[in-house]
Amino acid sequence: MNLAVIGAQWGDEGKGKIVDYLAEQAEVVVRFSGGANAGHTIVHKDRTYKLHLVPSGIIYPRTVAVLGAGMVIDPGALFGELQTLEEQGVSWEGRVLVSDRAHLVVPRYRELDVEQDRSRMQPIGTTGRGIGVAYSMKAARDGIRVVDLFDDERYALLRPEDREFLDPYRERIHPMVTDLAVYMYHARDRRVVLEGAQGALLDLDHGTYPFVSSGYSAAGGAALGAAIGPRAIDHVLGVFKAYTTRVGNGPFPSEFQPDRDGDLGDQIREIGQEYGVTTGRPRRCGYLDLVALRYACRVCSIDALALTHLDVYDEFDEIKACVGYDIGEETLDGFPASISALERAVPVTKRFSGWKTSLNGISRFEDLPAAAKEYIACIERFVETPVEIVSVGSQRESTILRSDQWTR
Ligand code: GDP
Ligand code: IMO
Ligand code: MG
Repeated sequence: MNLAVIGAQWGDEGKGKIVDYLAEQAEVVVRFSGGANAGHTIVHKDRTYKLHLVPSGIIYPRTVAVLGAGMVIDPGALFGELQTLEEQGVSWEGRVLVSDRAHLVVPRYRELDVEQDRSRMQPIGTTGRGIGVAYSMKAARDGIRVVDLFDDERYALLRPEDREFLDPYRERIHPMVTDLAVYMYHARDRRVVLEGAQGALLDLDHGTYPFVSSGYSAAGGAALGAAIGPRAIDHVLGVFKAYTTRVGNGPFPSEFQPDRDGDLGDQIREIGQEYGVTTGRPRRCGYLDLVALRYACRVCSIDALALTHLDVYDEFDEIKACVGYDIGEETLDGFPASISALERAVPVTKRFSGWKTSLNGISRFEDLPAAAKEYIACIERFVETPVEIVSVGSQRESTILRSDQWTR
């Protein structure tokens, strides 16, 4: 069974935590898109693991972790991350695989990424990891694929500075390389998690273009990046936060505004520790945007949702969510493609009572306070999708499962 787990907002929804939780019952986890721009956090007991390229199943001793064909991989970052994992007591040799069709990131891509963003009239605020450059090179058919490392004729055609960088990795990557289409064919009766990076609203096609990343982070990318057809995806789980965050620039209709919302943004940032895993940048915070979430559910055909960070609202008297956009005379309930419309949008909000009690330690849905259940029920009605997992803390155990994701 192939279970795709994707971000349903602008990234950092808690995908790493949810994939880690589900991977307990999986044999394989395939990361299908992005590169070292991602930062996925797993907290288990007293250990915190910060992953950028390595799939989140790695923490389990027998799970196979595959870097898929839709990824752009900086080999320096990859081996640095593997060494950190080793130092944290995670042995990975023999169970990290890399698709031969994945693309590579070389140092000049990173430099170009920073330069390009600096020279933009409206910078995107990229992570500076060379991601956009690697995907542009790929689309222009000038990219470097993993397989090229082992094709002497093609390798000889690369720029000398790229070869100088790549030389030490050829031998190290070699035992990890796999033909993913063949691997996935043989894994067809196994439990496989397809792990997304970024989120639907950062997807190159369906996100808030041009303020997006350059990979296919919506559900469609799961098939492409994991070398399977769309019909082979059995279930799509979308992960979203009880509020919304965004790192970098671009429209964010439900962002907290100090003149309207006081210090709500700072409060949420501190309680939720909303600082980027990859760049350390403070994340922009806002109300849960149900208009955007419903759009993500539709564009990704999300079957079920995992709601994370519900505990961040524990102390609040009242909670609001965005249920429409006022744009001039009009109130929209759809998510417009136009960046200017999104920038002008004023959120129409709905109020909910807070629960004013700690959710810490709750493991059954029935035991959630009535006000929290009401918030969830309203989300489900609005986005027409069931919330089947609720996360109330960063630890693996702080997870409430309403319905088994593996037996659909
Ligand atoms: P990802 O990129 O989607 O994997 O998410 P990140 O790891 O970038 O950011 C999510 C952050 O929230 C991490 O620090 C997680 O440990 C933490 N986290 C995940 N789920 C919860 C939750 O339910 N409650 C709280 N308070 N923190 C959570
Ligand atoms: P995870 O997987 C949040 C954002 C960047 C920037 C834009 C483009 O941890 O959810 P890029 O370097 O990709 O060209 O930057 O996309 N971005 C993310 N924001 N979470 C991520 O990944 C992100 N990956 C990229 O901040 O605005
Ligand atoms: Mg992240």
